Amino acid sequence: MNGSRLARLSRVTPQQLRAFEATARLLSVTGAARELHLTQPTVSVQLRELAATIGEPLFESAGRGIRLTQAGEALQQTAGELGDCWRRFESRLAELNGLVRGSLRIAAVTTAEYFVPDLVGPFAAAHPGVEIELAIENRDRVVERLQRGVDDVAVMMMPPGELPLERRPFLDNPLVVVAPAGHPLAGRRLRLASLAGERWLMREPGSGTRMAAEQHFAEVGFEPRVAMSLGSNEAIKHAVGAGLGIALLSLVAVRPPVGGAGAAPSEGLDILKVAGFPLRRRWSMVWRSDRPLTIAARRFIEHLSEARELRAPAGGRG
Ligand code: PGA
Repeated sequence: MNGSRLARLSRVTPQQLRAFEATARLLSVTGAARELHLTQPTVSVQLRELAATIGEPLFESAGRGIRLTQAGEALQQTAGELGDCWRRFESRLAELNGLVRGSLRIAAVTTAEYFVPDLVGPFAAAHPGVEIELAIENRDRVVERLQRGVDDVAVMMMPPGELPLERRPFLDNPLVVVAPAGHPLAGRRLRLASLAGERWLMREPGSGTRMAAEQHFAEVGFEPRVAMSLGSNEAIKHAVGAGLGIALLSLVAVRPPVGGAGAAPSEGLDILKVAGFPLRRRWSMVWRSDRPLTIAARRFIEHLSEARELRAPAGGRG
């Protein structure tokens, strides 16, 4: 890149880019000004100067609000890439000084919340210069974050096929059928078909657990009687415990790894012995293959790969 090609960039200030980034994200100049602790006219001037440098309008009005023009959208993407690029530079600089520094953004699906914090803890302690953000969301939201390139690493069961991703399976995630403790079917050897008349409690649409259940049911031609959808593993556990129905859940949600493979399921729940269960699934760590990893992210991936002692219990009782 020579100087003349960067002439336009050299006239763009970081302040203008910040004002633009916030306005583009919030689609509101007032909101951006509030977030940046600036006055609205200051933000407007920065946006006007930026548009003059670019030579194109960046926003246009849409009803009572504003939206990005095509040039604005292109700049939003470029500004994001510049930010990523700078983050990598800082982490490389830190590495040159023998330090791992910078930020590490992790997203994990809700079933992973039972063990990911335990894996993050020792990493955080060993890397005090790394500022860690951990988001726990359902599969759809994690996929959406991967699409936007929000996180350095995600932990999930079913990485999406349509994104450029590197994936590394690392932990078993058996899925089991749970019933209220003392359920008449508990302790008996069952076929899935014999559970057709039960009231099934499902996770919300967008959940990977629900997707895995639906895929399996479709494969074996099983049609559950769905009584209710609930938005979290804990809500399902409580509802099952209260006798509202049975459910397919990740074993780790029912029997957290703390107690080890022999630990009893959560109080009030029994794991049914259903032929073909537990379903054998795995969690993977995934990251965007089209972007370089930061040093902190590389270290974290190595750390996760070594985390054998926290492996989830290796199977259900079914
Ligand atoms: P969920 O994800 O939290 O969306 O059910 C589970 C998974 O995808 O592993």
